[in-house]
Amino acid sequence: MSHNFTPFPVLETERLTLRALTFEDAKAVFGLRTNKEVIKFIDRKSLNNLSETRAFIDLISNLVTNNKGVFWVIESKSNHQLMGTIGLRNFEDEENYAEIGYELDPMYHQRGFMSEAFDKILNFGFQNLDLKTIEAFTHKNNTASIALLEKQKFVLHPERREEGFENNRSYRLENA
Ligand SMILES: CC(C)(COP(=O)(O)OP(=O)(O)OC[C@H]1O[C@@H](n2cnc3c(N)ncnc32)[C@H](O)[C@@H]1OP(=O)(O)O)[C@@H](O)C(=O)NCCC(=O)NCCS
Repeated sequence: MSHNFTPFPVLETERLTLRALTFEDAKAVFGLRTNKEVIKFIDRKSLNNLSETRAFIDLISNLVTNNKGVFWVIESKSNHQLMGTIGLRNFEDEENYAEIGYELDPMYHQRGFMSEAFDKILNFGFQNLDLKTIEAFTHKNNTASIALLEKQKFVLHPERREEGFENNRSYRLENA
């Protein structure tokens, strides 16, 4: 099944607006993606400046325009700040499969915000995109991420590895 993310699927929860990323988010995204606590367990090329951040935003926007992924900014309804991001990517259409990625500013950790975003995105993935499997790869020592995934009933597949990321573990959720 192929997907179409135009118009962008803005979603709402009790405390959050999940919306498209724009160039106006560059400063906040740079702050998030260079925050030591956020990137502690995430092995990816870091952003060095705002110009690289704008290039990243451009890349994500193209991904969404081309329906290769969908990436939401998690925005607070109370102060309209960018709190984090969440996205689905690496769609495998024959298997109705996607991978989930997520990150939240430490200022908002452990207050149920990512669980609230997950509830909405998982429901969107299973109901609107007709996914059967959503997979998260997370570092084996990332206790916060593992606690979140287990709370969401993701199941560890200890034998699976993400190519190039030996310390990451696979957690999968199948649509019941
Ligand atoms: C992983 C992350 C998104 C969790 O977000 P969060 O909003 O703090 O999570 P929630 O508040 O919704 O918590 C979900 C569950 O995980 C538990 N949890 C969250 N952080 C925890 C921690 N540091 N240690 C132990 N348990 C933790 C919560 O207690 C909750 O379980 P409970 O309801 O049974 O108490 C956040 O820690 C983060 O952004 N980390 C940095 C980025 C990252 O590692 N992303 C994942 C990449 S794969």
